[in-house]
Amino acid sequence: MAAKSDINKSQPVGWTFFRQWLKNPLRVAAISPSSKQLARQMMSQLPRASRRVIELGGGTGVFTQALLDHGIAPADLLVLELNEELHQHLVRQFPGARVVCADAGNLSAIAQSQGFTGPDSADAVISGLGLLSMPRQTQQSILQAAFDSLKPEGRFIQFTYGPANPVTREVVDALELTARRASFTWWNVPPATVYVYQRRVSRSMAPRSMR
Ligand SMILES: C[S@@+](CC[C@H](N)C(=O)[O-])C[C@H]1O[C@@H](n2cnc3c(N)ncnc32)[C@H](O)[C@@H]1O
Repeated sequence: MAAKSDINKSQPVGWTFFRQWLKNPLRVAAISPSSKQLARQMMSQLPRASRRVIELGGGTGVFTQALLDHGIAPADLLVLELNEELHQHLVRQFPGARVVCADAGNLSAIAQSQGFTGPDSADAVISGLGLLSMPRQTQQSILQAAFDSLKPEGRFIQFTYGPANPVTREVVDALELTARRASFTWWNVPPATVYVYQRRVSRSMAPRSMR
């Protein structure tokens, strides 16, 4: 693992990210941080009046900054980042937010310890993880943990560089979710599509207009 001091504070943030990609391309899963246009599209999928948000795979903080600009208070924002150097960068950049160096697979325990439970559960999970390249079982445990930390109507918002839904049909069905393709942008390297996952509404719980 790289030493914490590896990040030179004066380095351009894109270069920091690219260096981490060179070290572990599969895990970092992108050669450059997401664009502001993609960040806007991700934010546009937040439920109205969202108060508490969890971000998975914060990277250099493009979505973290967009969440703060959207009005999420730093104390209501929990960010998980596995890469030690990127984690250090996020801690410096966002001193008021709850930034944890951890695997998204451990989200349940972390969300509990940070008080993202019951009425204080998250309204949304914003994910920058490379879900597409993860084995089915890993996808399922991350999404399961995310939905355990979300309010009943909470949303899991994910982007992908691929042409299709990055979460396998088996995982969507096993967790009884719906998957919706929300938007696409050419203004990202590479171009990206935003997907939104939610719990299925059982017929008896659905408003009359939806039955
Ligand atoms: C595609 S980058 C996205 C970074 C940033 N959200 C953005 O959009 O620019 C994926 C990020 O997820 C982190 N990551 C990968 N696997 C992870 C895991 N299991 N738990 C937490 N973070 C992870 C990587 O270190 C990297 O910073």
